[in-house]
Amino acid sequence: MSAAVAFWRAEHSSFASLLRLLEKKLFAFHSQDRPDYEGMLDIIQYLRHFPDRYHHAREDVAFACMARRDPSLAPLVARLHDDHRRIAQAGDGLRALLETALEGSIVSRETIESDAQDYVIQYRQHIASEEINLIPHAVSLMTESDWAEVARAHPDAVDPLFGADADESYRELRRQISIEAA
Ligand SMILES: [Fe+2]
Ligand SMILES: [Fe+2]
Repeated sequence: MSAAVAFWRAEHSSFASLLRLLEKKLFAFHSQDRPDYEGMLDIIQYLRHFPDRYHHAREDVAFACMARRDPSLAPLVARLHDDHRRIAQAGDGLRALLETALEGSIVSRETIESDAQDYVIQYRQHIASEEINLIPHAVSLMTESDWAEVARAHPDAVDPLFGADADESYRELRRQISIEAA
């Protein structure tokens, strides 16, 4: 089922491009008068929405299938599953900070910068661990019925940013992503 693995990796690549854009906005903290909190919030909203709710939920099903077929993967699977919870939690915290700043309340730039940088590092490490340590096993371990179970987990999942039917609210973020990719 190499198409499913290719799709899995393509989603990681999309998320990685967003993390690069978020990091670029963090670098701009040191050169611009006003940081792009709106753009950063758009990125976090998306990451809290599609990857955390659908991509990670599908992975949790795939991970369980893989650990069933090779119990030696159980500790890694447990760690990655826990990453999903911690990434969602960190995303919530960062979103709250950005919303507070956008409402005009005082939040130090240093706090936002440091929390956002931690978030980027944590997310990148998570994706890298899946790519290096787990996905290579998916090809050999997962059966057609396992992949069907993964697909059934969230058949209604629609990617509002990178999907074919992108959401209007992400128009500005899509524009920035295509500039970065050019
Ligand atoms: Fe994951
Ligand atoms: Fe992933």
